[in-house]
Amino acid sequence: MAFESDGGASNPAHGQHGNGLDAHDRSVVCSGVRRKAVIAPRPPATAGRETSMKPRNPVSRRVFLSILGSASIAVGCARSESEAERATSKPGSANDTARRAPKKLSEIVIGFSQTGAESSWRVAHSKSVQEEAEKRKIQLLFADGQNVHNNQINAVNGFITKGVDIIVIAPQESLGWKPTLKEAKRAGIPVVLTSRGVDADEDLYETVLVADFVWEGRQAGEWLAKQTNGSARIIELVGTPAADVATMRKAGFAEAIAKHPDMKIIASQSGDFTRTKGKAVMETLLSAHKGEINAVYAHNDDMALGAIQAIEAAGLKPGKDILVVSVDAVKPAFEAMIEGKLNATVECSAVHGPLLFDTIEKIARGEKVPKRTIVPGKVFERDQAAALISTRPY
Ligand code: AHR
Repeated sequence: MAFESDGGASNPAHGQHGNGLDAHDRSVVCSGVRRKAVIAPRPPATAGRETSMKPRNPVSRRVFLSILGSASIAVGCARSESEAERATSKPGSANDTARRAPKKLSEIVIGFSQTGAESSWRVAHSKSVQEEAEKRKIQLLFADGQNVHNNQINAVNGFITKGVDIIVIAPQESLGWKPTLKEAKRAGIPVVLTSRGVDADEDLYETVLVADFVWEGRQAGEWLAKQTNGSARIIELVGTPAADVATMRKAGFAEAIAKHPDMKIIASQSGDFTRTKGKAVMETLLSAHKGEINAVYAHNDDMALGAIQAIEAAGLKPGKDILVVSVDAVKPAFEAMIEGKLNATVECSAVHGPLLFDTIEKIARGEKVPKRTIVPGKVFERDQAAALISTRPY
């Protein structure tokens, strides 16, 4: 049954975040800036071309605008008053969106520009978004950026030309988005960011749904400090350097180990969030620093799993000779922990679908949404893995 805007009361997908927690306000530090954010409730425990989910008759932007136009006539705004309002409002801002008349959710079209499929996490993120669109019978145009920034820019420009109703971006890189976001704003299309942020003025997008990446890095650093009594020679496998998530995970880890003068990063190199590159980089670093390394911090599980293969190929025992800690908490990481090869992983939830579509529905109904929502995570250690693997949703 298609869900249509009725204030959300009839939407069966609402309230499915699992633990019954309400979202609550909390101040968090991201990119060194203290901002007001909302911590999202936990999701329930449960993977260059554009594809369309459940294609139906897409409603053109013109129709959307004409619905909005007639709605403002219906509320009987005096012309001079609405003109004054337009003059003082920022187009595309939450205020502006709040004055839009609701549109049937069954008619909206979402353009989703995904980074690619570089990791198990990313595959799970795409799956969560696509499944939720299907569940709510909302049309989703999915563009796989194949981990090329320009593919994503082109996809989003294409969505603007098509006149989709809302654009969702999971950006590979944080820079270079301003002209495209300005274009979307000029076209009156709200933009929602998921999984990573962009380096652009906040009024160029509606909201960003991300994890606290600095916190994740800090958790990994503190965990390692505890395990090694503050003495470690570390290889850091960095994610995609142009992504905010890599910069922030690096910063959080550096902050945690800075308290321990005997914890040293011997080498820090990018493995681009992939298992293949994580393995290749680790092979090189193991032979360049023979006998020196006793810990690996990988910015994601896939690179850690690649590093584990390299450590084994070098005749060493991952998890014992070399401690391995990473971020994501994907199922394969739990399998590696059960095998004793990975020591700990910091959860970065990939299940963004329900929260994303709750947010989209609010925007479509003209409700205000917080500028930033933090999707919470926790730390999982090796001895918890066997008991918890069956509860992992991705
Ligand atoms: O943006 C989230 C990160 O991107 C995940 O940690 C990583 O696995 C993915 O590729």
